[in-house]
This record gives sequence, C-alpha cells and structure tokens, in this order.
Amino acid sequence: MTDLKTGYITEVPYPNVYHRELNPSFHTLALHANGLSAPPRGGAYTYLELGCAWGLSTLIHAAANPDARFVGVDFNGECIAAAQDIAKAAGLTNVEFLQADFADLPGRVMAPFDSIVMHGVWGWISQTGRDQIVKILDRHLKPEGHAFISYNAMPGNAPVDALRRLLQVGFELGAEPLFNKVNAGVGIAGQVKDNGARFFSAHPMMAERMDHMIKPAPRDYLAHEYFNSDWQPFYYADVEKELRPAGLAFAGSAHLLDLIDDAQLPEAARRHLASAPTITTRETLRDFYINTLFRRDLWRRGAVAQTKESQDHLLATKFVVGQGVEHFDRIAGHAMLGEVRPKAEPGRAVVQALESGPKSATELAKDPTLAGVEVAVILETLMVLAAVGAAEPILPEDGYAARKASCDRLNAVLAERTLEAAKTGGREWQSFASPVTGGGMAANAVVQAFILAKHKGVDPQAFAASFAPAEAPAADVEDHIRKMYEVFEREAPITFGNLGII
Ligand SMILES: C[S@@+](CC[C@H](N)C(=O)[O-])C[C@H]1O[C@@H](n2cnc3c(N)ncnc32)[C@H](O)[C@@H]1O
Repeated sequence: MTDLKTGYITEVPYPNVYHRELNPSFHTLALHANGLSAPPRGGAYTYLELGCAWGLSTLIHAAANPDARFVGVDFNGECIAAAQDIAKAAGLTNVEFLQADFADLPGRVMAPFDSIVMHGVWGWISQTGRDQIVKILDRHLKPEGHAFISYNAMPGNAPVDALRRLLQVGFELGAEPLFNKVNAGVGIAGQVKDNGARFFSAHPMMAERMDHMIKPAPRDYLAHEYFNSDWQPFYYADVEKELRPAGLAFAGSAHLLDLIDDAQLPEAARRHLASAPTITTRETLRDFYINTLFRRDLWRRGAVAQTKESQDHLLATKFVVGQGVEHFDRIAGHAMLGEVRPKAEPGRAVVQALESGPKSATELAKDPTLAGVEVAVILETLMVLAAVGAAEPILPEDGYAARKASCDRLNAVLAERTLEAAKTGGREWQSFASPVTGGGMAANAVVQAFILAKHKGVDPQAFAASFAPAEAPAADVEDHIRKMYEVFEREAPITFGNLGII
C-alpha cells in the first residue's frame, strides 16, 4: 500500500532509529568544525523535524533540551500516534507531533523555526514533495536559521541506481503483500548476481552490497530504501540549486568523518579542492575524489562567512566519552576513504583523562598526563573521537537538573515500551536521552532493563529476567543476564554514568 497522492510506502512504517546527526548540539559542533559561527545550545530555540517516522530522535532531543521547542511531522499515522503517546506518558510539554503531509505545511501557521531538519527524506520522495519542502523552508525557517538535509549522493550512487532497477524487476513480478514483493526483488537480483551477471563483476561493490547489506537487511528498511515509487540520488550542485529559492547557502558537512576524508585526500587533490573557484565546484570535485555515497549537509538561511572565532569555540567545547580507555582499540569509524582511528598517542591519554568527566581541549592541555602535547593536536584527537562516535560535545552545566528530570522520565517510558515489546514482539525503542550531551545513546533491551531497575530500586538481574520470552529456558536466561550484568557493572559508570543516564 502506498500513499495515493505521493506514491510513498505507508503499508509498513520505517524502522525506529535514533540519528545522532540530528542532535542540535552536534550541528553547532559541525558548524564550528567547518570554520563557521554557530548558535549556542542549552537555551531556547525552535526545531522542526520533517519525516520523523516514530519520532525517536525528536523525543530524545526534546527531553534533553527542555528549554527548546520541537515539532515532528510525518504522514504515517501509526508512527505519529506512537510518538504522541510516548511524549504524553513522559510528560514532555515542549514537543508536538503532527500527522501531516508536507503539502499541508507551507500554508500552515507555524513557529518560525531556528532549525528545520530531515534525515532520509529528500531523495526518497517525488519532485513535488521536494518542492513542498523548499516552500516549508522558505515559509518557516528563520533568517540565519539552519537546515540539515541528508541524501544519497552522486557519483557514488550511480551503480546503486542500476541495482535498484534490478531489484524492482522482481518487486514488480512478486505477489502482494509488500514483504513478499520485497523478497521477490531481493531474490531475483540475488539470482542474477549468482548466475555471474557482468553488472556485478563490473561493480564489485554492488555484489558486496547485495550479499552484506541487502540480503540480511530488515524488510521494512528495504521497502523504504529501494521500493518507493521515487528514489533519486543527487549531485551536490542540483541540491544547491533546488534550495536557492529558500535563500539557503551551504554551511558544511554535519558528518565529521567527511572532514577527515578531506584531510586524508592525496596532496594534489587537496590543492585542487583548495583552488576551486566556487563552493559548487569544490563540493562537486570533492564528491568525485571521494566517490561520495551519502551527504549530510548543513545549510544556512543568509550569508555564510568563515570566522576565526570558531576555533576558540572548538577549543572551549567540553567533550564526554562514552567508553573507557580499556576499549581504546575498539574506537574506529568508517569514512568513504577507509577506516578512521584516533592515534594511540595522545588518543589513549585523552580518553583516559576524559574518563573522570568532560573536559575541553584547553583544559586537557593543562592535564599533567598530556604535558608537552600541543593543544591543536589534542583538539584534532577530540574531533576524531567525535567523528567516530566515541566522544560527544556537552551542553552547559546550567539547566542540568531540569534536563536530567525530563530525560529520566522519557528514558523510563522508552525502556518500558522496549521491554513490553521484548515480551510481546512489538516495536522497540532502544535508545536513551542524555542530559549531558542533549542527544541520544543506544542501549539494547537488557541494558534498558538494568537501568530502569536501578531507577526503580529493584534487582536489575531479576528485573531483566522477568522480560525474557516465556519459552526461553530459565537457566540459560539467568546465565546470559549474569554475564551481561558483569559487563554492565564494569562499563556503565563511563558509558551511561558520564552521560547522566544512570
Ligand atoms: C526513509 S523514512 C526516514 C525516517 C526517519 N527520518 C529516519 O531517517 O529514520 C522517510 C519518512 O518520511 C515520511 N514521509 C514521506 N513522504 C512524506 C510526506 N509527503 N509527508 C509527510 N511525511 C512523509 C515517511 O512516512 C517516512 O517516515
């Protein structure tokens, strides 16, 4: 079943995922990292998320930023009803969820907003839908406000475009319901690959994508990713052109790994990019040098100018770590040009110094364990840690008590809903809101049970065991939970304690 007006799939909702790159504090960090001025966080502002699906990101940001106002919009009624229900149960009064089509919003009386964001929406809807989004930005984004837009990019997606056409051959032939059709699409594309089709030998990454990303992927994700009637990857220049009528100018990537990709390009490529006469040329060349697959960009309404103060802000930004130095070797991320890791020195010393609480590069430079290390090197290390998700910028101390109270309320409801779902097979909400970072942190159902039990003052292991499926043998459940609790006890003070979640 698809929405008749837009052709978008409504039969199954999108998976329930928290997106770190929608965190308003993360946008401020990214703007500074791109050399630009950025709004401070922790205070009052307005924020609209388009295509929010189940609203998990919006809920988390609302709980962790109680002085700001949030609106989440999606036309999927099941998702919006669930998000409204959780907001109500958690007593969040600074968030509103609207079941609405993008077409309804340009003419609607709304905020105006300091930020309008959308993740996984721009390239998955029709041109008419994108035109409506540009009208929404034009009508509802404040001057100097920011937009965040992610999309599948060209040229990286040129072969993916072809693979999608192949997947659709099977989808069209498959019988209803939707998941049968999705399976038929995956089945025929897999058959073509296994029969040795030259498309796959000419594009080995597409063979890898079939085997490792498409075949094992949840069917609800696949339905939305490949089988909507609209799916279009974009060249940067075309997005820039479409956003121009709303007065938006490029304000850099919100994906910090992109900055690392840029730094790792060969010298000749970096010189070439630096000499590009316009942003449009630079970003287009960059996408070819890197073969960009996905862009996550920030846009500013009004002029964008580099400022030296951004460096001072970065030096003063305090970071918190979500894992201890014990796991330093696990800290890694994947940029387009390959694996990214912090250097062992001063990386280990930085992570160790942050274990005891958040610190800025300037503060770390005064730490005896980092004596002699230049502050610029410490900052670079912090940015690598943030890029790979091992460190987060934090909000100011002011307002912590109010943030902690609303995060605790939301986290209890998220954990309760996940645990109910673990028993009954419903939708899980596997993330928590952090009053320290203003964003979210992933936590699986068992960890959610441990943390909820600690807040309730009951035995965490017995509490977690009470949600195991009835058919699971009691001794196995007990053993599994005991082992998980040993790890939790050791790691939680840093992973969840430093983030204010316990
Ligand atoms: C690919 S999903 C992405 C969901 C979420 N932003 C994420 O990344 O996890 C796109 C979302 O946009 C919503 N959507 C698509 N077209 C829409 C429209 N015309 N009006 C409102 N919502 C729409 C869908 O229902 C879906 O939840």
